[in-house]
Amino acid sequence: MKILVLNGPNLNLLGLREPGVYGEERYEDVCRFVERKAGEMGAQAAFAQSNSEGGLIDLLHGAMGVYDGVVLNAGAYTHTSYAIRDAIAAVRLPVVEVHLSNIHARDEFRHTSVIAPVCTGQISGFGKMSYVLGVAALLGLQKGTGGEDEHHG
Ligand code: DQA
Repeated sequence: MKILVLNGPNLNLLGLREPGVYGEERYEDVCRFVERKAGEMGAQAAFAQSNSEGGLIDLLHGAMGVYDGVVLNAGAYTHTSYAIRDAIAAVRLPVVEVHLSNIHARDEFRHTSVIAPVCTGQISGFGKMSYVLGVAALLGLQKGTGGEDEHHG
């Protein structure tokens, strides 16, 4: 399974940016960690980051036919971007929304995700493990071990 791990605005500054909230590990090191963990689970992870809304939309479009699923940390666009929401709906790939911090335990404006309704699910608050859990969720979907269809009473 080929998975795109896509990061939005300011996530290139991981390790430097508000380390008390987002951790002290640099963006590149987090990517390397997720790549290794994905590999151990039998998935192939690729990484992309953009600070712009259009850039993220182009990267989502480009994922069609190339990747089997996307792990997306849209950063602050999570809370505001109907354009990214529409792109997620358009590409018809499973997209797992992830956040390093627990967005529901933070500022009021972060409690709303406008992309959540078109994502397969949301993982929030596990630091860099949120990305790994996102990869695991996509693998589970592919293997049919996750999701509503598996509930048999
Ligand atoms: C974030 C949470 C967002 O509210 C914030 O704007 C970010 C990072 C997270 O990973 O916790 O940029 O998506």
